[in-house]
Amino acid sequence: MAETINADMIIHDVVTKYPSTVKVFHGHGLPCTACAVGARESVAGGARTHRFTPEKLDVLLKDLNASVNGEPISVAPKKAPVGRGVPLQMSPAPADRKIKQVIAIMSGKGGVGKSLVTGLLAVSLRRQGLSVGILDGDITGPSIARMFGAKGQPGKSPSGGIDPLRSKAGIKIMSMNMFLEHESDPVVWRGPMISSAIKQFYSDVEWGQLDYLLVDLPPGTSDAPMTVLQSLPVDGIVIVSSPQMLATMIVMKCVNMVRQLKGVIVGIVENMSYFETPNGEHYEIFGPSNGTELVSMSGSPLLAQLPIDSALTTLCDAGRVEEYYSPTYELLAENFINTLKIKR
Ligand SMILES: Nc1ncnc2c1ncn2[C@@H]1O[C@H](COP(=O)(O)OP(=O)(O)O)[C@@H](O)[C@H]1O
Ligand SMILES: [Mg+2]
Repeated sequence: MAETINADMIIHDVVTKYPSTVKVFHGHGLPCTACAVGARESVAGGARTHRFTPEKLDVLLKDLNASVNGEPISVAPKKAPVGRGVPLQMSPAPADRKIKQVIAIMSGKGGVGKSLVTGLLAVSLRRQGLSVGILDGDITGPSIARMFGAKGQPGKSPSGGIDPLRSKAGIKIMSMNMFLEHESDPVVWRGPMISSAIKQFYSDVEWGQLDYLLVDLPPGTSDAPMTVLQSLPVDGIVIVSSPQMLATMIVMKCVNMVRQLKGVIVGIVENMSYFETPNGEHYEIFGPSNGTELVSMSGSPLLAQLPIDSALTTLCDAGRVEEYYSPTYELLAENFINTLKIKR
C-alpha cells in the first residue's frame, strides 16, 4: 500500500487534502482536527499529546493511509464535532510568502487599548532587530499612523505597488489616515468597501520581507474583523481584554469567533489591569485582574498584564510611541515570540 501520509505531516494539511481522514482521527480518539492549536501539530505530535504509544501511532498511520486508498480501517470511523452552520475557515498561508507571520490583534470592543498594544508590541519586536509592519485594519477609526507620527502619503514602490510609510525606528505602516486630506475626515463606508480596503492594504502594499505583520483589527466580532480573518493568511490572533470585559463575556465572544474560524489564539493581553502610583501603591481601577479566568476560559496563555500609564497616552497623542520603554512590554514581546514558536 502506498504511504501518502506520514507521522511528520501537519494534521491540518492532512485533513485539508484528504477530508476522509477526519473520521479516522476521531475514530482513534484524536480530537486534534477540531482543535485550532492541535491541528497545527504533526500527526506524531498530536499522538504524543494524547499519549499514544508508538504502536498506536503506527495503527493510526496505517488507517489514515487506508482511508485515503479507500481500504477498510481498523476502528469505527467517527464524525468530527461540528459547530452550528457552515464551518468557517481562515485563509491558509501560502508556503513561500515573504511575510513570515501575520498576526491579528483583536478585542471585543473599542477603547481597550488594542491599537496601543499593537503599536507597543511592534516597537518591542523592532527593538529586538526584527522586521515588523503594522496594517491598520481599523479603516473607519484608524489610530496607528498618528501614534507613530507617520505623516504623508505613501509613495509607489519600484514594482508599482504601494510603498508603506516608515516609522522612525523602521516599522512599516499602512493606515487609512494616510489617504485622508485631513486626519479628522470621517470614513463613511459600508462593509464591502471596508473589506476591500483591508484586502488591498495586504495585497497591494509592498511590505517586503517581514518577520511579523501585525494587523490592528477594528473592534468587535462584526463583518470587518471576520473579513480579515477569512481573507488574509492570519497565523495567529492576540486578544486584548480589560478587567471589565471579562464580566461582560465579551472576551468569550472573540474566543468563540476565532474557534469557529479555526484560528489560533496566540494569547491574551490584559490591558489596564492596574495603576501604580509613583510610590508603588497598586490600584485595580477597573476591578480585579482576571488573569487566571482568562487563561481557563480561552485555553490560551496570558501574554501580559499591562498597567495604566499616563505617560503612554501623552506619547501616543504626540506621535512618539516609540520613545516609550517599559520592561512589561519587552516581556510581552518575549512571551509572544516564545508562544508562537510552540504553537507553530
Ligand atoms: N495601558 C494604558 N495606559 C494608558 N493609556 C492607555 C492604555 N491603554 C490604552 N490607553 C489609551 O486609551 C485610549 C484607547 O486605546 P486604543 O489603543 O486606541 O484602543 P482600541 O484600539 O482598543 O480602541 C488611547 O487614548 C490610548 O492611548
Ligand atoms: Mg483602535
